[in-house]
Amino acid sequence: MLIVHVSDLHCGKSGFNSKALELAVEEINELMPDVIVVTGDLTNRGFLHEYELASDYLSRLECERTIIGTGNHDYRYTGYLLCKKYFQKPRVLEFDGAIIVYLSTARPDRDEGEVGYRQVQWFKKIMNKHKDKFKVVALHHHLVPIPDIGLEKNIVTDAGDVIRAITQNDVNLVLCGHRHRPWSLNLNDSMIINAGTVSSERFRGFFANSYNVIRVKNGEIDAKIKVVDGDAIDFKEILNASEPFIYSIAKDD
Ligand SMILES: [Fe+2]
Repeated sequence: MLIVHVSDLHCGKSGFNSKALELAVEEINELMPDVIVVTGDLTNRGFLHEYELASDYLSRLECERTIIGTGNHDYRYTGYLLCKKYFQKPRVLEFDGAIIVYLSTARPDRDEGEVGYRQVQWFKKIMNKHKDKFKVVALHHHLVPIPDIGLEKNIVTDAGDVIRAITQNDVNLVLCGHRHRPWSLNLNDSMIINAGTVSSERFRGFFANSYNVIRVKNGEIDAKIKVVDGDAIDFKEILNASEPFIYSIAKDD
């Protein structure tokens, strides 16, 4: 199973690198993934024209299974009213022995994320029904602290409850975005992967646009950071780096 994990597009007028997103869409289509998971911040401010822009780019992805979730930026300026109009995507996908669930963490005009008691209960019920599947949960905000991002903030406010539900239900893979910094951490048997930003100029601790390419074979996860128009980097390289990982794309032309 090939999963492509994209996050933090930030489509809009400022700080949005449209060229990067165009290239990323082309690269992803060439990979022919089984599923594409987009973990929010599709827009920069939740404006109508930004939703239209994000919808245009994401409609170019050629994949029969796509989960497109929202983030805190998409909920600004009543952008939460536009989500359903532009992104009628499922929150749960089940296929080929796998199940993927998107947890909504964005709240109107708030930057911090929250899953909430009722959503945690809903999530636990689904996981309980699909014990034998390869279980993936995706959400916009980060669940665990991430290095090289300056002040640690906006982490999921009920992260403890969510992490307990994840580890008790043997979730295999957790996909997060929000901090624009690729990072990964294993918690018991769950692998947590954070994505960088695919097309925002606001980098944190990893200075290139990227998305994640995750191959799953016999329950084993092989995760790579794909720099847009650049190399695929094994997550271990970043995890083992003692200094902030600076990737620069050297171009002669
Ligand atoms: Fe965000």
